[in-house]
Amino acid sequence: MKRILFCLVALAALCACSNTPAPEVENTTLQTIMNRKSVRSYTDQKLTDAQIETLLKAAMAAPSGINLQPWRFIVVTDQAVKDALQGERRGPRAMYSDCAALFVVCGETTMTNREGVQVPNGNWTADCAAATENLLLAAEAIGLGAVWTACYPYEERISRAVEVLGIPEGITPFCLVPVGYPDGDDAPKDKWKPENIHYNRW
Ligand SMILES: Cc1cc2nc3c(=O)[nH]c(=O)nc-3n(C[C@H](O)[C@H](O)[C@H](O)COP(=O)(O)O)c2cc1C
Repeated sequence: MKRILFCLVALAALCACSNTPAPEVENTTLQTIMNRKSVRSYTDQKLTDAQIETLLKAAMAAPSGINLQPWRFIVVTDQAVKDALQGERRGPRAMYSDCAALFVVCGETTMTNREGVQVPNGNWTADCAAATENLLLAAEAIGLGAVWTACYPYEERISRAVEVLGIPEGITPFCLVPVGYPDGDDAPKDKWKPENIHYNRW
């Protein structure tokens, strides 16, 4: 009898192990990462100041080369300014005009070296990209929708942002992220491609 009981317990343990869900099924951080998707249509609902601050805090929590944190942010909620940034860029949707808040992620492109001389900061785009992804993930985590739209390195988009927003010399607009409550049923895309992975060497 004891032996049967032991076998049953062992079998139950084995089943439990083989049914252990992948970490992303239960872990909320991983769920947020896997559920993030570009959202380009928004309802009219505004964001609260607390939501905006949360998104900025998440962005500024990103990793940064030599911890220089070269990112700078402009948060645009004024309709006239959003419309000016939208300009003639109107496809099926006018994401900048329609969003509740438009986050313009900018970067300081130079740094002061040990000799006190201003030199290019080769990490500024990587740092701004990390901050942008954090912002997108934070938006997903609090039930908002957002999309990364390119600015740098496109001269025309950079000049428009610089002109409309009065961005000073030495600061380059990196990307624009419209954020709002999702209006639609955008779903995450499956990008899992094992063929893109190499182990130990190519
Ligand atoms: C560097 C970069 C530039 C992008 N630029 C634009 C853009 O200008 N307009 C836009 O609608 N989406 C833009 N996207 C969003 C991509 O189209 C989107 O991430 C891609 O189609 C994958 O879809 P997903 O974000 O839903 O996973 C950009 C994304 C990245 C990372």
